[in-house]
Amino acid sequence: MEFPCGKKLSNNASQRTPKVFILLALTLIILGIIPLHYTSKWYSATNLANHESEKSSTYHIEDMEIKIMDDETCDISTGEWIPNPDGPYYTNTTCWAIHEHQNCMKYGRPDTDFLKWRWKPKGCELPIFNPFQFLDIMRNKSLAFVGDSVGRNQMQSLICLLSRAVYPIDDSISPDENFKRWKYVDYNFTLATYWSPFLVKMKEADADGPTKTGLFNLYLDEADDKWLSQIEEFDYVIFNGGHWFTRCSVYYENNQLVGCRYCGLPNVTDLPSTYGYQKAIRTVLRTINNLENFKGITFVRTFAPSHFEGGEWNKGGNCVRRKPFISNETSLEGLNLELYTIQVEEFKAAEKEGKKKGKRFRLLDTTQAMLVETRWTSK
Ligand SMILES: *[C@@H]1O[C@H](CO)[C@@H](O)[C@H](O)[C@H]1NC(C)=O
Ligand SMILES: *[C@@H]1O[C@H](CO)[C@@H](O)[C@H](O)[C@H]1NC(C)=O
Ligand SMILES: *[C@@H]1O[C@H](CO)[C@@H](O)[C@H](O)[C@H]1NC(C)=O
Ligand SMILES: *[C@@H]1O[C@H](CO)[C@@H](O)[C@H](O)[C@H]1NC(C)=O
Ligand SMILES: *[C@@H]1O[C@H](CO)[C@@H](O)[C@H](O)[C@H]1NC(C)=O
Repeated sequence: MEFPCGKKLSNNASQRTPKVFILLALTLIILGIIPLHYTSKWYSATNLANHESEKSSTYHIEDMEIKIMDDETCDISTGEWIPNPDGPYYTNTTCWAIHEHQNCMKYGRPDTDFLKWRWKPKGCELPIFNPFQFLDIMRNKSLAFVGDSVGRNQMQSLICLLSRAVYPIDDSISPDENFKRWKYVDYNFTLATYWSPFLVKMKEADADGPTKTGLFNLYLDEADDKWLSQIEEFDYVIFNGGHWFTRCSVYYENNQLVGCRYCGLPNVTDLPSTYGYQKAIRTVLRTINNLENFKGITFVRTFAPSHFEGGEWNKGGNCVRRKPFISNETSLEGLNLELYTIQVEEFKAAEKEGKKKGKRFRLLDTTQAMLVETRWTSK
């Protein structure tokens, strides 16, 4: 694939293909990871009942506690999907956070077995997510997802999983659907999403662009003020990105034009999308490291394939897969591998720098679990 934005968008609807599989999968992983990193306390069912029984009449004893021990080490980024007959934990009728364009069931998807899988890390068990315990851990805290639609999808998944316990109220400070804020009132827990697919400052230079998919001016050394202006108030921030860097963009550094990706402008050097992406993620992490008042934990969520397979992002595709891949059936390669490598390298550099400044970073490595047939993703 030489020119991802060089062809006309043939099927706009493809960008709105149902995402329930990824939605579920991402959630199981991300939610397994968060409590493991966030606390070293032991939780018991009694504890949960004591905390919640007055407020939450919906607490059920079958929501078993997840025990988290200080010395537990297990790399949950590698493993296999295994069948889970107990799933799914929510459906299109129990959770309103599934958007219309993600509602496979409503539009006639006949099977449901694709919802019944769980992630089994190599060498340990990842417990089934306990929404009551999660909310208890997050009491008085706040969590923001910053990035593209895959990150937004994760936030929706989280709302759906937590819906077994309680729904949040809409606490958005702007009417813009790209910047939602939810409040779990009984827990004083805030969940927010920031739409910032490039993570850095961006100006849409041409909604049409050379290829009808937009042309974006990216200021690679300036973080996007949309999230930057509000991020200090959050305890946990999860960044993600990558997919949008294959679009036609013009790169600026220090306000000077340095090159572009597929812009077709005369005498402007064409640079790979990895150039833009590396600079962008570096800018984000450096900015966090220099944010005096930010005391939270920063997660870098590693690369995940897009919402569908069977076609590049602008060319249609499908979501007909009935079960996840076995690890030996797929591998990280091409652009996906390059993006992943950049994320891990930039994360390590930022973490090292952050140590000196008391900043905390975590790598949320969901890439292997999320892999689909790699030849179709953003390459
Ligand atoms: C959920 O999916 C079913 C089909 O399984 C459909 O009949 C129903 O209308 C959908 N409900 C909602 C609220 O989307
Ligand atoms: C909610 O949590 C914040 C800290 O995030 C705290 O300052 C505030 O007092 C809490 N509010 C209530 C009502 O508990
Ligand atoms: C949450 O904040 C309230 C009000 O500041 C405080 O009374 C309570 O102890 C806090 N709970 C936790 C778990 O931090
Ligand atoms: C591109 O660069 C060449 C050589 O420097 C120059 O002759 C030409 O005028 C430039 N074209 C434009 C459109 O700037
Ligand atoms: C992958 O491993 C399974 C056993 O776990 C085996 O049956 C299958 O043939 C392997 N597939 C490939 C493509 O190597």
